[in-house]
Amino acid sequence: MGRGKANGIVVLTGAGISKESGLDTFRDADGIWAQVRIEDVATPEGFRRDPVRVHDFYNARRRSLVTGNVRPNAAHAALARLEAEWPGEVTIVTQNIDDLHEQGGSRNLLHMHGEMLKVRCDGCGTVVPWRDDLGTGDDCPDCAATGRLRPHVVWFGEMPLYMDEIYGALDRCGLFVSIGTSGNVYPAAGFVTEVRRAGTAHTVELNLEPSEGASLFAEARYGPATELVPAFVDELLARGTLD
Ligand code: APR
Repeated sequence: MGRGKANGIVVLTGAGISKESGLDTFRDADGIWAQVRIEDVATPEGFRRDPVRVHDFYNARRRSLVTGNVRPNAAHAALARLEAEWPGEVTIVTQNIDDLHEQGGSRNLLHMHGEMLKVRCDGCGTVVPWRDDLGTGDDCPDCAATGRLRPHVVWFGEMPLYMDEIYGALDRCGLFVSIGTSGNVYPAAGFVTEVRRAGTAHTVELNLEPSEGASLFAEARYGPATELVPAFVDELLARGTLD
């Protein structure tokens, strides 16, 4: 390790960063889990029990992303600028299944809960881009099995993706920033604790209100992401170092 603090940055994002782009969060009063039950649409059991209901749920959300006027906001753009201009590694770990980070220009991006614009075949395991409605009559483009395609989304009780890469980045970083997440769902809610265990990284929470894990962060700023994130990135780039 070179002189001084590591200069890698890990950013964890949740539904709050996409709220000002017009996408619902999960646990706000008007959130998704106030409209449908997790066990009906976000568990493997729910999918086995009623695949049509689960397809309808994701088809409606996929349609709003593909056909609605949903665009990345200033917070997504600021993170892409940070990745482009920071003199070190910037890793975006998102719990979100929308593609707003990609649209905003982020490249070093890990979708730990999967992606709404991809589907996976339970038959052959292939993962392919998919922007249309998905149903039980669709055939896998690779193995041709019918009715074996599911959203490439991590449901409750399933293993999140890219965990080895994520823990590697957390253990190397000098700064961990959590944006727009309520800190209700593990393992993401435990990342701040992993960073503190691993060393001397600074930890920051940028959120509309204190999350479940607020007390675990060395610094916290509260307000809308489109205000907090650009300002925070400007400060970071002006400093140019984490020392
Ligand atoms: N700016 C910043 N933060 C905001 C904004 C905003 N404009 N609007 C809402 N928030 C905050 C809320 O205060 C809340 O703390 O974003 C957070 C959203 O929390 P959740 O709705 O719980 O979403 P998230 O933390 O991403 O959920 C994690 O749970 O249901 C599963 O798989 C799903 O990935 C999801 C995971």
